[in-house]
Amino acid sequence: MAEKVTVPGIVKMKREGKKITCLTAYDYSLARILDDAGVDVILVGDSVGSVVQGQPNTLAVTMDEMIYHTRIVARGCKRALVVGDMPFLSFQVGREQALRNAGRFLQEAGAEAIKLEGGVSMSDTIAAIVNAGIPVMGHVGLTPQSVHQFGGYKIQGREKGQHEIIMRDALAVQEAGAFAIVVEGVPTALAKEITERISIPTIGIGAGIHCDGQVLVLHDMLGLFDDFTPKFVKRYADIKGSVAAAVKDFVEEVRERKFPGEEHSFK
Ligand code: KIV
Repeated sequence: MAEKVTVPGIVKMKREGKKITCLTAYDYSLARILDDAGVDVILVGDSVGSVVQGQPNTLAVTMDEMIYHTRIVARGCKRALVVGDMPFLSFQVGREQALRNAGRFLQEAGAEAIKLEGGVSMSDTIAAIVNAGIPVMGHVGLTPQSVHQFGGYKIQGREKGQHEIIMRDALAVQEAGAFAIVVEGVPTALAKEITERISIPTIGIGAGIHCDGQVLVLHDMLGLFDDFTPKFVKRYADIKGSVAAAVKDFVEEVRERKFPGEEHSFK
């Protein structure tokens, strides 16, 4: 088996100039495929709310749902680092609540780190979680849990003031002890500046080529979910098309009495 990916290993990848790969997963079967295919980090994202549950955003996802999905993903992973995503209101209400919920991902679900959204305003919370021995991945820029504050999923950091706020957020997350940081939905130049100024790896999504790694939502990149496709998504497969074709074949064969054949039947 290839060497296990660890938190220090991810940090080292930046120092060695190796690009970090990260994809989301929400269940055992797909997590196994990702792990075997060599992805470095598997993020059990609260994007489960959109691409699995069919909700308009991530806000209704609960801690119990995240624990369930993280547990079944972790069961499928041998090599990749498993990161559990803290859902809306699981860490914003108080530091003690944040610490307990972060701990659940490791204790009950088998995650090796957690991710949470926010910069300067979350830095004390990040520090408390890190001080408890729980590795934290930060998340700045277009943070989806703040969708209503942004007035939609809009690129952040285009205006001068915003640019500096996001830079300060990234620095605060690093200062608080996070081992890596997702940078989402910001101009390429800003992501480049953040990547150059901080020593922990940046993992970009809709943040251009200069980040230390890239993350995509699995259902987007596989072409499994197409209710909404952001510009930054590259489709690497058409799984929706393949599934639809297979299901049509099944329906036709059953109706025409071609399935099951002798080879699928018992004497
Ligand atoms: O929930 C998620 O999938 C995420 C990634 C898009 C970074 O936060």
